[in-house]
Amino acid sequence: MNRAKIIATGYYLPSRILTNEDLEKIVDTTDEWITTRTGIKERHIAENDESSSDMGIKAGSMALEKAGLEPEDIDAVICATITPDHFFPSTACLIQKGLNLKNSFAFDVSAACSGFIYALHIAEAILLQDRVKTVLVIAAEKMSSITDWKDRATCVLFGDGAGAAILQKKKGDRGILSSFLGSDGNFGDLLIVPAGGSRTPVTEEIVRGGQHFLHMKGNEVFKVAVQKMVNSALNSLGRAGLEAKDVKLLIPHQANLRIIKAVAKRLKLRDEQVFINVDKVGNMSAATIALGLAEAEEKKIIKSGDIVNLVSFGAGFTWAGMVLRW
Ligand code: ACO
Repeated sequence: MNRAKIIATGYYLPSRILTNEDLEKIVDTTDEWITTRTGIKERHIAENDESSSDMGIKAGSMALEKAGLEPEDIDAVICATITPDHFFPSTACLIQKGLNLKNSFAFDVSAACSGFIYALHIAEAILLQDRVKTVLVIAAEKMSSITDWKDRATCVLFGDGAGAAILQKKKGDRGILSSFLGSDGNFGDLLIVPAGGSRTPVTEEIVRGGQHFLHMKGNEVFKVAVQKMVNSALNSLGRAGLEAKDVKLLIPHQANLRIIKAVAKRLKLRDEQVFINVDKVGNMSAATIALGLAEAEEKKIIKSGDIVNLVSFGAGFTWAGMVLRW
């Protein structure tokens, strides 16, 4: 049987680190509040002139090198991002240019924190149904560019970075086993960048009111996040004929340590079955799970044959689960 298999991963984190102590000097907050409410201690922040495509290019370059592939081997580039360099051209096209991927088509996917799993799902469909042999999936986010640095309720949560995965069609039982994707636009207003698009173009007044920044009703998002992530894990596992006990590693979206713990508890997972790096990087939206997978591989937490369950939740609302045999 043919499966879409991840043959290499990559990642990039900006060198600048913003700690909770640094944030105490910017807004009325404390390390204690941020740590107990979110589990976050520090996050990486891109330079002013460093964009999502710049970070995506670095993550993609690492994955290409690890795969031992040349740029012309890539047939398609899919970039998951909610912080594109521009409305258009797509960030995927900018990454294509940066990596000199002459033979590929390229497009973006917008599904917020679920973007990486959505993009993997699309990559699988392209690989299994088309003549495409190799797909580069990138998730790159400069969350700091849509953060209101005067809003303590949101500015402590997010970080910047990128992750990448290269997929090819392979015979055998390793690769993507199942996916479960969902969304509900009725919750759109709870997590939104209200202005800057065609609904409300940017004006001086809009900028003065901070409507071009991310706005979130955190506690309302929290309740749905836990329920949908558990549901996505169970449904994706069910579609693969597996149960939570079969999972070597759950890589959940890293929005908040309390959400991760609640999801793990409901799935009855042991600590060592759950990947956590939210303390070091915060919430990097789509890039979160891409980085988690690359880190888990690099640190040899996952090995050939292991069952890996990716689970996400984000703006839209969107949610997704995916099961891989590594
Ligand atoms: N420092 C100190 N106090 C703060 C801070 C801060 N940084 N931020 C908020 N507070 C205060 C609030 O003003 C409030 O004070 P009040 O009671 O006097 O009004 C109090 O702390 C409690 O605020 P809540 O928002 O109710 O705090 P909560 O416990 O819900 O934690 C958080 C907030 C961390 C945002 C949490 O709700 C959360 O993680 N939500 C889910 C986020 C998520 O999953 N997002 C989805 C993915 S993101 C994406 O798709 C882009």
